[in-house]
Order: sequence, then C-alpha cells, then structure tokens
Amino acid sequence: MTSSPEQEPQFHGIEVQKFADPRETAYAVASKIESLIRKRRDAGVGCVLGLATGSTPIPVYAELVRRHREDGLSFANVTTFNLDEYHPMDEANRHSYHAFMRRHLFDHVDIERSNTHLPSGSVSRQEVQEHCSEYESLIKESGGIDMQLLGIGRTGHIGFNEPGSTPESRTRLVELVEITRNDAADSFGGIDKVPKYAITMGISTILDAKEIVLMGIGQGKRDIIRRTLVSGPPSSDVPATFLRGHSATSFYLDKAAV
Ligand code: GLP
Repeated sequence: MTSSPEQEPQFHGIEVQKFADPRETAYAVASKIESLIRKRRDAGVGCVLGLATGSTPIPVYAELVRRHREDGLSFANVTTFNLDEYHPMDEANRHSYHAFMRRHLFDHVDIERSNTHLPSGSVSRQEVQEHCSEYESLIKESGGIDMQLLGIGRTGHIGFNEPGSTPESRTRLVELVEITRNDAADSFGGIDKVPKYAITMGISTILDAKEIVLMGIGQGKRDIIRRTLVSGPPSSDVPATFLRGHSATSFYLDKAAV
C-alpha cells in the first residue's frame, strides 16, 4: 500500500500532511517510525521514541506489530518514554496507560522491557515531584527523544497539558479538566471512575524532542486542529499552539480532521 498525502502549506512552521483516511494516516506514521528505527540501527545507535496513548495511535501500533511479525522490524535498539499516566493508577489496572502500552505494543514486539518507561501512577503525592525529576533525568540520560508521537485532546492538550499549561512546564502532576474526563468516561464506565489527576511530560519536555509528529483523526478534532494551526498567537488557552515554536513538527491528519 502506498500513501500519497496531499501536501498542505506550512502553518506557522508546522508541516501538514493530509491523508485520505485514518488507515493511510497510521500507515504513514508507522513508516516514519520504522525508517527512524532502521536508520539509527544501521548507524549502530539506539532509537528513543516518545509514545502516546488514546485511540488515535492504536492503528500505528498495530501496523508496527505487523511489520515486526511480517517484515522483521526489530525493536531491540528502541527505548520508549510515554507522555503520561493517570494518578493515582495501578500499573496492573486495565485502564492504566501501562496496560494500554503492553496491550497494543510492548507485549507483541522484541523491545527490552527495561527500555520502556512511563510515569508511575502509583507513587504517593509526597513522592510525585521527585519521581517527575527522575523521569526527566532518565530522558536526558537516554540521549533525548528522537521522535515524539502526539495525539491531541479536544481542549488542545498534548500529553495531559491542559489549558493553562505554560511553554516552560516540565513533567509534573496535573488536574484533568471536565471535558477530558468526560471523553474518557465511556472507557472507564462512568466519569466518577476517571481519575482526577495525571502525571504528564510538560510542554517544554515535549519541545525538547528532536522531531514531533502529531496525529489528528476524525471530524471531532477538526475544530481544535484549526485553532492550533491558524488562530491567534501561541497561547496557554490551546497548549498545542506551542508546537509552532518547534523546528521539526509535522501534523499527520486525515481528511475529516482538516
Ligand atoms: C488522552 C491522552 C492524550 C491523547 C488524548 C486524545 O487525553 N493523554 O495523549 O492525545 O487522550 O485521545 P484520542 O486519541 O482517543 O482522541
């Protein structure tokens, strides 16, 4: 299958690639990830990926698993850092992002489990700050994130950086807004079961990645994608607008999301 995106003009320095449907979008993102993994393996170095959860990247992970099984794509040189995790949240809980990553990717490829990292949802409130600094240090020690994958929330959040997040923010505990908790309510079986807090990489942590790919799928994201790409100056009201300040950011969108 070949994907031929429609090249859109750059929006505030962000390159936009538009695909016919969600499947082609996911295929193109998987290809980008595969070529980065292979390029770095051929150079004899590790590849550090920043990963995202949510429904949007699921087909990307499925395609990467398929390429591992059928095309011999190896994750032996890959280290991963996820954007976020609910707090409090046990790793074993099926709603945790730890479980999500095992289910959709880690259990099905040859990645070294000790090379996979997510913020912990089970550290106590007293330990959170230290845990967040350790997470930042681990990212730095790994050499930094080569490519960060992002989805986008309807509030304009990236990771769980809700409106109000500043471009200087680093990994920290945040309170989730009502819209975000509502969006997660179905999968949790009711809004009352959705945690009120999360630990997320900050905007500044995300902007440290050498390359950033944000995926947007479906009509439900059209409004927030528009606001991110074209409206006003970058602002904490729509945290994703801070991506405009990054030199290697592209948006991979399906037609419905543009
Ligand atoms: C959650 C995640 C985000 C994700 C967002 C959108 O809030 N923390 O990283 O981008 O959901 O989810 P979906 O892809 O299901 O629309």
